[in-house]
Amino acid sequence: MSKKVSLFDPVRLGDLKLSNRIVMAPMTRSRAGEDDAPNELNVDYYRQRASAGLIVTEGTYPSKNGKGYCRTPGICTPAQVAGWRRVAEAVHMAGGRIAMQIMHCGRIGSRYNKEPDAETVAPSAVRAAGQIYTDAVGMADFDEPRALRLDEIPGVIDEFRQATANAFAAGMDGVELHCASGYLPMEFLSTGTNRRTDAYGGSVHNRIRFVVETLQAMISVRGPGRVGIRICPGNPFNDLHDDDPVETYSVLLDAIRPMHLAYLHVIRSPRPEIDGFGLARRHFDGPLILNDSFDLVTAEQAVSDGQAAAISFGRYFISNPDLVRRFREGAALAPMNNRTLYTPGEVGYTDYPALG
Ligand SMILES: Cc1cc2nc3c(=O)[nH]c(=O)nc-3n(C[C@H](O)[C@H](O)[C@H](O)COP(=O)(O)O)c2cc1C
Repeated sequence: MSKKVSLFDPVRLGDLKLSNRIVMAPMTRSRAGEDDAPNELNVDYYRQRASAGLIVTEGTYPSKNGKGYCRTPGICTPAQVAGWRRVAEAVHMAGGRIAMQIMHCGRIGSRYNKEPDAETVAPSAVRAAGQIYTDAVGMADFDEPRALRLDEIPGVIDEFRQATANAFAAGMDGVELHCASGYLPMEFLSTGTNRRTDAYGGSVHNRIRFVVETLQAMISVRGPGRVGIRICPGNPFNDLHDDDPVETYSVLLDAIRPMHLAYLHVIRSPRPEIDGFGLARRHFDGPLILNDSFDLVTAEQAVSDGQAAAISFGRYFISNPDLVRRFREGAALAPMNNRTLYTPGEVGYTDYPALG
């Protein structure tokens, strides 16, 4: 009998060669440096976690309109590219791999978190219910977004192509399209946020068009083997609603299956009636990274059963920079402090110690 695959075995996701199947999930930490460029603190944070088979960076904006949250990094200016280059070099020096998550927040944003000349744009002018933290005024209502004109959409898609090119120029091993959590790509997919009547709205084939064309633009830079996508079918986060997520994601994955992407990163659906993992297996042939609330036992099980090529962990990596070693040795995991998730500085960021 052949040996069962373990979480600690290497794996290939497209052109990405991982030394183990323990992926660090993308996590916004709101500690970007001046002008939203990564600084030495961010370099330390990622270097400390480089034993992950793959680090997926925090959501990183491709254009100033795409910024939603305060102190989040971008990948559009030379200073931002230079900052990310230091991060990528540090991770590589420590033997790791790193992919950048490209996150355009769409309607989820506040003008207080953006440059004065930036706008909040979305498929349709449908404001999200709820509030967002800003350094300037504390909690603020989400902006009323401006609906993108049809003639602007190619330019927005090109922002993702340029961001991909910039990420590779910074030395990233790959890029991941953030198509979950109610941000711009998911806003196009979903009936509640996409009221368009042109080629990008209405039928499911029109609603998936933005995501498909965005992936094509990202692939045009260095091929599909270094491009992944993250989804969470049926996620209501950020006031998102879709009438039929199963149909939407089945049609989306059928359309992107022939692209031969590096991986599909799937977050467990918070709606128990939606089996997002099963849907992904039925409609996608390439490697799957599964996420949300896995522990060592359930992750080993999913990998050894062949349900996933790799498992990503978010919160464990915050307080356990050496999570791979702790898993391997069966060591205790350090608890995470919720109060310092998004606060500036090293406390709750780079001061969680490694073992011994
Ligand atoms: C502080 C924090 C920030 C996060 N930021 C992002 C993000 O920028 N992009 C994203 O796709 N998911 C983000 N997530 C979700 C995580 O990637 C992951 O899906 C979630 O933590 C569940 O995985 P876990 O159970 O292993 O923690 C964030 C989660 C946390 C806790």
